[in-house]
Amino acid sequence: MSRARSFVFTLAALAACNGSPGAPSTEGDASTTTAGTDTPATATNDASTDPAPTTTVDDPTTTVPTGTTGDPSGLTYYRDIKAILDGKCATCHRPGDIAPFSLTNYDEASMFAPIFAPSVEDRTMPPWPPGADCNDFASDRALTEDERARVLEWVAAGAPEGDPDDAPPAPDDDAPSIAYDVQIGLSEPFTPTQLPDDYRCFLLDWPKDQPTYATAFTIEPGAREVVHHVIAFIIPPDELADFEALDAADPGPGYPCYGGPGGEASPRAQWLGAWVPGASSGALPEGTGILVKPGSKIAMQMHYHPNGAPVADQSTIMVRTAESVARPAYLLPFAHPGWMVDAPAMTIPAGEADVMHSFTIDLGSVISYLYKDEAVGVGEPLLAHMAGVHMHTRGARASLVVESGGAPEACLIDVPRWDFNWQGIYEFAEPITIEPSDVVRLECHFDNSSGDASLKWGEGTEDEMCLGMIYVSTP
Ligand code: HEC
Repeated sequence: MSRARSFVFTLAALAACNGSPGAPSTEGDASTTTAGTDTPATATNDASTDPAPTTTVDDPTTTVPTGTTGDPSGLTYYRDIKAILDGKCATCHRPGDIAPFSLTNYDEASMFAPIFAPSVEDRTMPPWPPGADCNDFASDRALTEDERARVLEWVAAGAPEGDPDDAPPAPDDDAPSIAYDVQIGLSEPFTPTQLPDDYRCFLLDWPKDQPTYATAFTIEPGAREVVHHVIAFIIPPDELADFEALDAADPGPGYPCYGGPGGEASPRAQWLGAWVPGASSGALPEGTGILVKPGSKIAMQMHYHPNGAPVADQSTIMVRTAESVARPAYLLPFAHPGWMVDAPAMTIPAGEADVMHSFTIDLGSVISYLYKDEAVGVGEPLLAHMAGVHMHTRGARASLVVESGGAPEACLIDVPRWDFNWQGIYEFAEPITIEPSDVVRLECHFDNSSGDASLKWGEGTEDEMCLGMIYVSTP
């Protein structure tokens, strides 16, 4: 049952977040930050600006009793709500973490309860992008229907406290701790200065001199209040020159990068992993691992969201390695090769509200293209364990579906409301077999209705992408 805790990483890059109240509030030294003002906090702790909601549960099928303040049969914080908030909110809503306020005790929960309803009703909190109708995932962070109804009911009842003795015992945290044996990071602190977002890549030496499999991955963020997401890409020895040139061309440690690790080889760069605030365990699915060759480098892409004060970050990548694994695996990025070379271009005309681009691939051929010297994947079934999609800010929705004989066979991932700030790769509850005759269809929809320029594929913030990501292993 360790699956439930295993690998889900949702990339949280919060364009609108103002750091947490616990964050250092040193007055910015104007000479070291780019001009700009603090982004206003997205949530105010002044409940009076937001009249107490009159929301009621909008699901008529719910059987949750109606609670009223003081009614002993009604819902209370300690008996009914604390465990939900601890398990599904406080992973981010805690001091020094990414969310703008904490929800770790009754005082905090009751202070912010009056602003819960809109986010809980429209399911933007907790952030969980995969649509529920497509596939089941190992660590679903969304509220269940029952939890959602209870939270809304409790909020509507005025957030009654109840009796601390009613609190259920804290769940045993029996997650095995992961013994990471590789730690690599910035050799010197870096202070992000681009406002509102600073995207930067750092090339780190991979320390192993033998072929090694990465079996777990996480990030130890240096400055949690400004680190919004981290993606680590494996740059094999024969691709290094391009990336080293980018690094050399930019002063200071690292170089600017946005969607990928930069440069022409960027779309081919395999992910080692990604990290987001609130991410749980970093273990890859049981028995699988990603090969990293000696002489490789890791491009660590940082998305910083500086809060106006000069905060120095020195984040570290932690990897658990093994000499061999039962099922070698690949975290494959893929897209239409033509989009990158303009034939056919991935054009998204200005003013269009729904532009669709799609691509269907045979995964075996992708593996043989990316890993020319490895025999895996051609003519054999593959097991898919995790999937994700990636677009930039004009992305609206996207999906990956396995097709067999021209008909949909299995939905891997569907993100019905794409948000660049909450992207990720999600582990399936059960692996899905992809037969050699199957193909995988990637479909991306873009909304450029407010744009006045036509967009195309590219690495920049004003470009778009449509990338599928799938973690597959030998069966
Ligand atoms: C994965 C991290 C994460 C989890 C889990 C999470 N939140 Fe949040 N929450 C945030 C961040 C970050 C913000 C700041 C707004 C933003 O950028 O989305 C936020 C903002 C909010 C807001 C203010 C919304 C607004 O419009 O500004 C509310 C209310 C909220 N969260 C409630 C909750 C509740 C209730 C839960 C649990 C049921 C929860 N959150 C779980 C990260 C999280």
